[in-house]
Amino acid sequence: MCGIVGYIGRKEAYPIIIKGLKRLEYRGYDSAGVALLHPEMVIFKKAGKVVDLEKVADPTKTSATIGIGHTRWATHGEPNDRNAHPHLSNSGKLAIIHNGIIENYASIKEELIKRGYHFDSDTDTEVLVNLIEEVQKKENTTLDNAVRIALNEVVGAYAIVVLNIDNPDQLIAARKGSPLVLGIGEKEFFIASDASPIIEYTKNVVYLDDQEYAVLNRDGSYSIKTLGNVEKSHEIQKLEFSLEMIEKGGFEHFMLKEIYEQPKAIEDSLRGRMNASQGWIKMGGLTEYSNKILSADRFIITACGTSWHSGLIGEYLIEELARIPVEVEYASEFRYRNPIIDEKDVVLAISQSGETADTLAAIELAKERQALIYGICNVIGSSIARASHAGSYTHAGPEIGVASTKAFSTQVSIITLIALQLAEKKGTIPASRVRQLLFELEGISKKIEETLLVDAQVKEIAAIYKDASNFLYLGRGVNFPVALEGALKLKEISYIHAEGYPAAEMKHGPIALIDENMPVVFLATNKSAYEKIVSNVQEVKARKGKIIAVVHKGDTHIRSLADHIIEVPETDEILSPLITIVPLQMLAYHIAIMRGCNVDQPRNLAKSVTVE
Ligand code: M6R
Repeated sequence: MCGIVGYIGRKEAYPIIIKGLKRLEYRGYDSAGVALLHPEMVIFKKAGKVVDLEKVADPTKTSATIGIGHTRWATHGEPNDRNAHPHLSNSGKLAIIHNGIIENYASIKEELIKRGYHFDSDTDTEVLVNLIEEVQKKENTTLDNAVRIALNEVVGAYAIVVLNIDNPDQLIAARKGSPLVLGIGEKEFFIASDASPIIEYTKNVVYLDDQEYAVLNRDGSYSIKTLGNVEKSHEIQKLEFSLEMIEKGGFEHFMLKEIYEQPKAIEDSLRGRMNASQGWIKMGGLTEYSNKILSADRFIITACGTSWHSGLIGEYLIEELARIPVEVEYASEFRYRNPIIDEKDVVLAISQSGETADTLAAIELAKERQALIYGICNVIGSSIARASHAGSYTHAGPEIGVASTKAFSTQVSIITLIALQLAEKKGTIPASRVRQLLFELEGISKKIEETLLVDAQVKEIAAIYKDASNFLYLGRGVNFPVALEGALKLKEISYIHAEGYPAAEMKHGPIALIDENMPVVFLATNKSAYEKIVSNVQEVKARKGKIIAVVHKGDTHIRSLADHIIEVPETDEILSPLITIVPLQMLAYHIAIMRGCNVDQPRNLAKSVTVE
């Protein structure tokens, strides 16, 4: 949450920062701001989006070659101009941008007020910049040392960049719990919450580790130290994605582009990891720890949001194929109870961003208790990927839309491979069944491409129900998590209340909601429970609910009962979520567009949730 960008070099900083902030807007869009050394300190900030900031920026004061910028997801204080970053210290000499939360800001603020400091905003960030100033004065030390000492006094999470009017040739950046990437150019440096603002200028990056800070100098020199004052040397890494991958490529919205990218994303996630005709599966991370994984008492899957839904599908797949008991936990709950977990457990942590604070904290807890952590992340080099003992990247490519789509399908395909490899090694299903599922998985992208053709039809259905106040999504077995995911997609981008339920649970409560105004989306592709689903459809019909059913091509039975059917290609039931989710993503997308919502940046949300 919150996006931060910094630049020092020979180019004009302002356009680089503005472009970078636009790329990071998925992380938060409550307000935006920049600080430049011109050489006087120039700050522009505004509630709203980066385009609103551009309107207030004075073009005669944007030629600086050093600056910092921020796009905010509000935590402390309303999203107004006053609380927008950057924040200045009382002397006006230091400006800071911050992503994260300073948990002990109240006591620090109290102390600073006693020492004569005043505060213009309600933020924890303004407290931090004044603490740095106070330390620098008190200790009579360099700014970087003052930053280090101050950060040792704060509790919480942060990625910060500090700009100093007394040293226009230096930027200082630090992180703990919030991501920060340094772009290393030719006598220039870029700093950002992720690599998207950097990729256009350099592919050479350094990922700062937790509790580290960097000093970046205009002459091209830089140093990295721990907050304990120990010098660090980091290998420069090469970015693997291109600029095109983070642009819309002709689509109106990132979400739509990412829905359509799913066939390719799944192919990328499977590439080099399986071959159906040769009959092999190779998940590198699994091989490395194979003894521990194969002898695990149970798997615990922990994640949040959409990633938690793929975890539920994972539970189904791993138990069904590999016969290993699985528990799926909301990371936010897991971390705050006292879970029974030890060295015989394997924890699968699933996260698109790899930065979700709750998932990261759940991992740390499980690590303390000696469990093996297997991370399934999309963002390379992310905190969760680095905190895991082993893992697999999903290789979905950058996902910019706040509503997760291709990340979900690639997570499911990776978990399918994990389940199959474990099943093969444990001999829990016949080799012929492993082979059959590999063939089906290899061909799934073609079937998703075919599924994408339902778009126009889904749009028509969206037009009929766009004004509904509630939606119910029902599915059974492996399609129950798909019902949850379909409901989450709809509520997060269209603001329509939606609930997902196991179809058979409907009669235990939700059935009371059904009347002629209630659209009910059925996932009705499961062969194993087909008759049962037909009965559930009948129950809704009897109460005049409006039935939208996702069925296999050629299904005539449900067609005769439903108000609308969406036909999708048939696949093996346990792989069906990869197909059935597609029309639900499209339904949410079209309804949200018809309701005039911002699908890529829904209200109150951010792409990566780096606060608790
Ligand atoms: O980056 P993560 O996968 O850890 O994020 C978890 C959730 O915040 C995320 O899936 C969220 O629910 C999405 N907005 C759903 O579309």
